[in-house]
Amino acid sequence: MLNPSLLICPLCGESLQAHGSSLVCPQRHSFDVARQGYVNLLPVQHKRSREPGDSAEMIAARGRFLDAGIYQSISEQLNAMVAPLRPQVVLDAGCGEGYYLQRLYAELDADVQVFGLDISKPAIMAAARRNKHVHWLVASNKAPPLQAACVDVIVVMFGFPDYAAFAKVLRPGGQVILVDAAEDHLLQLREVIYPEVRKSAPPSIERATACGFDLVETQALRYQTPSLDQALLADLLLMTPHLFRASREGKAAAEALQQLMLTVDVCFRRLRLTTGC
Ligand SMILES: C[S@@+](CC[C@H](N)C(=O)[O-])C[C@H]1O[C@@H](n2cnc3c(N)ncnc32)[C@H](O)[C@@H]1O
Ligand SMILES: [Zn+2]
Repeated sequence: MLNPSLLICPLCGESLQAHGSSLVCPQRHSFDVARQGYVNLLPVQHKRSREPGDSAEMIAARGRFLDAGIYQSISEQLNAMVAPLRPQVVLDAGCGEGYYLQRLYAELDADVQVFGLDISKPAIMAAARRNKHVHWLVASNKAPPLQAACVDVIVVMFGFPDYAAFAKVLRPGGQVILVDAAEDHLLQLREVIYPEVRKSAPPSIERATACGFDLVETQALRYQTPSLDQALLADLLLMTPHLFRASREGKAAAEALQQLMLTVDVCFRRLRLTTGC
């Protein structure tokens, strides 16, 4: 059963308590805990669309691709960065279908409280199937429904950090681990899709600095995948933004690929909260 002690009501910010199979705040706002163990704390008024975030189809594709182990080294490097910090409370902000958080959970002590949130309900439903001990939440990075200053480490894997919101829920000295695509990530696929490949650096952390975070560590990870077959390449295309950015010709060229070896080029950054926003 979900332990609500660190959760807050997304409508009024007060503490939530378990009441039957719901979480309820003193103002009587009530949220059902789904049979699968997750809770939807995303109020309708915080939604920009009816089904925000990644679709069920994208989530299923990402699950198949990640379970094939192609990004396992990314997960291992993440775990090696987080475990020595000995966190008591961990949040994966934009956890998708839970691959990385499930593996990180297995590396941490059993009494660590682990939260995974995503704005996509299909993502959280899939994540809840992976692990019953993580607290899975449908919620937004813009307002993680957690008590102020309770989180030790926030993980953001290929996601959309909101540093002002993170600064509220992190304890002083709390840390953010950002994992992003670096310049050559999936280069061979981008060469097939785009007439001209634009190499871009990982996203700027200017906003993090403005919110009181210092960059304390940067790590790189670069390797070649084995040859990926057509089914895995189709899943990869569905889970990356490239499919949506591609021209019709680029998309057709990618879909025609029978096999391809890819460069994985990923950047890990560790930020520490020093002052508030
Ligand atoms: C590129 S995917 C990465 C998922 C996962 N971290 C991984 O690496 O497998 C980005 C995820 O962010 C989620 N997302 C988008 N906007 C969000 C927001 N405002 N708050 C929380 N999650 C969000 C999407 O639903 C999607 O699951
Ligand atoms: Zn409330």
